Amino acid sequence: MPSGSLGDLPQLNAEALWDEFNPADYISHNYRTVLPVDAKIIAIVRDHFGDHFRRFPERPVRGVDMGAGPNLYPALAMLPWCEEITLLDRSKRNVAYLRDQLDSYDTNWDAFWQELSRKGPYAAYPHDPRVRFKQIVRVKQGDLFDLAGRQRRWTLGTMFFVAESLSTSETDFQRATECFLDHLEPGAPFAAAFMEESEGYEVGGRYFPACKVRRELIHSSLLDRVEGLQTIRVGEQDKVRDGYTSMIVAHGFRSA
Ligand SMILES: C[S@@+](CC[C@H](N)C(=O)[O-])C[C@H]1O[C@@H](n2cnc3c(N)ncnc32)[C@H](O)[C@@H]1O
Repeated sequence: MPSGSLGDLPQLNAEALWDEFNPADYISHNYRTVLPVDAKIIAIVRDHFGDHFRRFPERPVRGVDMGAGPNLYPALAMLPWCEEITLLDRSKRNVAYLRDQLDSYDTNWDAFWQELSRKGPYAAYPHDPRVRFKQIVRVKQGDLFDLAGRQRRWTLGTMFFVAESLSTSETDFQRATECFLDHLEPGAPFAAAFMEESEGYEVGGRYFPACKVRRELIHSSLLDRVEGLQTIRVGEQDKVRDGYTSMIVAHGFRSA
């Protein structure tokens, strides 16, 4: 990371230039193909959601991906059970990318669906995921912090690489995890992913802030609002960039 990068500069969520986040560059580094670490995350999330909905095949399910950015695989992981999925993001460019994907998502996402489809209800899914995605996904530009105090409405949720990757402030990190969980109804399954000890990250030549959180803090920040919490370290050996120690996947159920 060059000197003067966000590793040294405090930067709150409201100060970062989210509208300059470059989705094409982000995808080319992260989601052009299924990286080994994403395959591991997908397996964990598929088992968590699949196990829950096999035991409780309740309907209707309303899903949310908070800070979706240019990543469709959390939404694809929720697809089999949802009648509606909201993709929320603050960045104009990411929202434009997501809206552009609604009609017929790009072919790079087929490999992520195939990875999900190795097992369980994804393999048996009776619909074309691309058609279903178009039917049920809604994209919303918004600030997850603005949701504080509003009514809970989602019964399934994901938040991948967002709470720790939106500010250098530990308070912002804590607030973001609380906002996410506070908008899930009691009993709602969720999955979240984090970069441990991230020093900030570059997208299309621009640096974005991150908070250096360790697994213990991630775990404790979720614990009060979650039942059956698991936090799993993944990808220590297959890093996607410098400047972090591991990815952490958390899952469980929103407590009452
Ligand atoms: C590191 S990216 C993660 C993107 C994606 N979830 C993924 O899995 O790759 C962080 C995302 O958080 C979004 N974001 C930052 N602050 C936000 C806020 N206050 N409310 C909603 N989204 C926010 C950014 O626009 C960006 O898309």
